[in-house]
Amino acid sequence: MTSVLFVCLGNICRSPTAEAVFRARGGNSDIKIDSAGTGAWHAGNPPDPRSRAEGERRGYSFAGQAARKVSEQDFYDFDFILAMDASNLSDLKAIRPKNATAHLSLFLPDGSDVPDPYYGGPDGFARVVDLIENASDFWVSQLNARLNANVTKSAVDTPPTKA
Ligand code: 4NP
Repeated sequence: MTSVLFVCLGNICRSPTAEAVFRARGGNSDIKIDSAGTGAWHAGNPPDPRSRAEGERRGYSFAGQAARKVSEQDFYDFDFILAMDASNLSDLKAIRPKNATAHLSLFLPDGSDVPDPYYGGPDGFARVVDLIENASDFWVSQLNARLNANVTKSAVDTPPTKA
């Protein structure tokens, strides 16, 4: 079993999309998948309808998702915590317990941000799904490699991000 937690600011746009895309593309019940936000404003809410519309149009399911705030326990419960942008990563580093076991990284392999679409138009939501689809294929292969133990733990502990 390996596990991944996707984190953005509100947990209603980017990280729920990453959760939905990864669930569809990961296709492996040995990977635990969840998402959370660094903020709690939307706790308990379903994903933003604009994210859901774009994701569902491409065949992804957001069923059962509800926003929650990231917790200290997450740093022990997940193998990977993947931040959608540099600000999320910085916020996560600030609350990371000293003996945390999770590997913390930016989500995009090239170290760039998944731009926050919340205050923008539909193009931003489509761009979010494009970026997430591409990066999910990278992470699915990383996590499957870890599951298959064909690469060492240290190899996946140093993904090519500038986290
Ligand atoms: P997310 O987008 O971090 O991708 O879920 C946002 C959702 C809500 C807010 C900001 C970003 N907000 O300010 O409420």
